[in-house]
Amino acid sequence: MGHASSCFISCGRITGYLSTAGLVSISVSRLKLAHKQLRYVREKVRMAKALAIVVALSKGQAAIDLGRNMHLIDSSLGVSLRDEGLCIPLLRRPDESESKHLSLALGPFRIEEREFVERGPTHRTLIEALENRLPPHLLTVVPKSLDIIGHIAVVELPSELAPYEELVGNAILETSPSVRTVMAKAGIFSSDYRVRELRLIAGDDNPVTRYKEHGCTFELDVRTVFFSPRLSHERLRVASQVQPGETVVDMFAGVGPYSILIAKTQPESMVYAIELSPSAFKFLVSNILTNRVLTNVKPMMGDSREVIRSSLLRTADRVIMNLPGKASDFVDVACSSLKEKGGVIHFYSFESATNPKEAASAKFKERIEASGRKMESILATRVVKAIAPYRVQVAVDALVS
Ligand SMILES: C[S@@+](CC[C@H](N)C(=O)[O-])C[C@H]1O[C@@H](n2cnc3c(N)ncnc32)[C@H](O)[C@@H]1O
Repeated sequence: MGHASSCFISCGRITGYLSTAGLVSISVSRLKLAHKQLRYVREKVRMAKALAIVVALSKGQAAIDLGRNMHLIDSSLGVSLRDEGLCIPLLRRPDESESKHLSLALGPFRIEEREFVERGPTHRTLIEALENRLPPHLLTVVPKSLDIIGHIAVVELPSELAPYEELVGNAILETSPSVRTVMAKAGIFSSDYRVRELRLIAGDDNPVTRYKEHGCTFELDVRTVFFSPRLSHERLRVASQVQPGETVVDMFAGVGPYSILIAKTQPESMVYAIELSPSAFKFLVSNILTNRVLTNVKPMMGDSREVIRSSLLRTADRVIMNLPGKASDFVDVACSSLKEKGGVIHFYSFESATNPKEAASAKFKERIEASGRKMESILATRVVKAIAPYRVQVAVDALVS
C-alpha cells in the first residue's frame, strides 16, 4: 500500500487513474472522456499493488468485458491508463485456457504487476453498501456475484435475505452503475425452453435487454429465453476452433450466441441454428439481422431431432449440443448430422462434482457408439461452471468418425 497524488477518469464503464505521463501522451478527446466526467482528486489517495492485464487502449473495453465474464477483474481497484496502454487490475492470474482466449480476443497483452488506486466510497462493493443496513449476521450470505445482462442484474438470493430483497436490490442499483433492473431467481430452469422464473426486486420492470459479447450484440427477454453471460468464455473457446469452409449445426441455438459469434469470427463458415422456443427464435432472427450475418447463419425453427432428420443429414463438420440436461438423448441425432467422413461434436452435460469430466466423456462415448459411429478421440474436456453445490456443467469436444 502507498499513497500518491492522482487523477481519476470516468468514461462509461472505464474508471481509471492517469499518471502525469499518461495525461501528456494521450488525447483526452480521442478517449471520449466527457469533459464533465473528468474529476480531479486533489487529496492523497490509497494505492495497492495487483496483477494487471496490460493491453492496447483500443482493446480496453473488450478486455474488461471478457475479464468480467471470467471473474478475473478486481473491481475494488481502478483501471489505469499509462503510456504502455490500459492496465486492468486482476484478482488472479488467468489460467492457460483463459490466457489463450484473452489472446484470441485481444491480440497481444501482458500480465504484470502494477500499482492501482483503490476505488472510493462511490465504488463500494455490495457488502460494503449493505453494512449497517442489514443485520450483521446476514452479511455473510450476501451474494458474491451477479449475472449482468445489459441493464439487468440477475441475482440468486438465499432464503434468509427474502425479507430484505428490495434493500439488496436497491444496493445493487447503487453499486452497479450500468444496472437499471434487478431480478431475483425465483425457481429452477423449467420446460424444454430452459427458462427460469425471475422476480423484479428493484428498478424498472423492463425484461428486454441488449447485451454485448465478443463484438456481437444480442437482444433478449430474460423472462422468456435462456441466456447465461457465464458461458461467454466457452462460446469463444468453441468459435475459435471453427475453420474456414466448415458447416456447423448449432442444435440448441437460443438467441444465437454461438451461431452468431462463429459466423462473425469465421465468415467463411455456414451455420445452421436450430431453436424450438418461439420467443428465442424471434430474438435469434433479429440478432442475425443486427449482427449482419444473414448470409452465413440460417435460422431453423423446430425440434432439432426433426429439423436434422428432414434437412440436415450428413451435412455438418461440427455440431454444438448446448442443452446439458438432455444432450445425451440427442447424440444419435448429432451423429446423423455429421458428414460421412465424420467431424467434431461439442457435447455438454451436468455432472456431480466428483470426476465430472470422466463421467461426461464415458456417457458421450457410449451414446456415440450406440448410434453406430466411433469416438476417434477426445479433443478437450472442461468444467464450464458450477450450477449447484456439487454439480457442474462439463464440455467434451470429440472427434467422431
Ligand atoms: C441451454 S439453452 C442454450 C441456448 C444457447 N445455445 C446459449 O448458449 O445461450 C438451450 C436452448 O435449446 C432450446 N431447445 C430445447 N429443446 C430443443 C429441441 N429439441 N430442439 C431445438 N431447440 C431446443 C431451448 O429453447 C433453449 O433455447
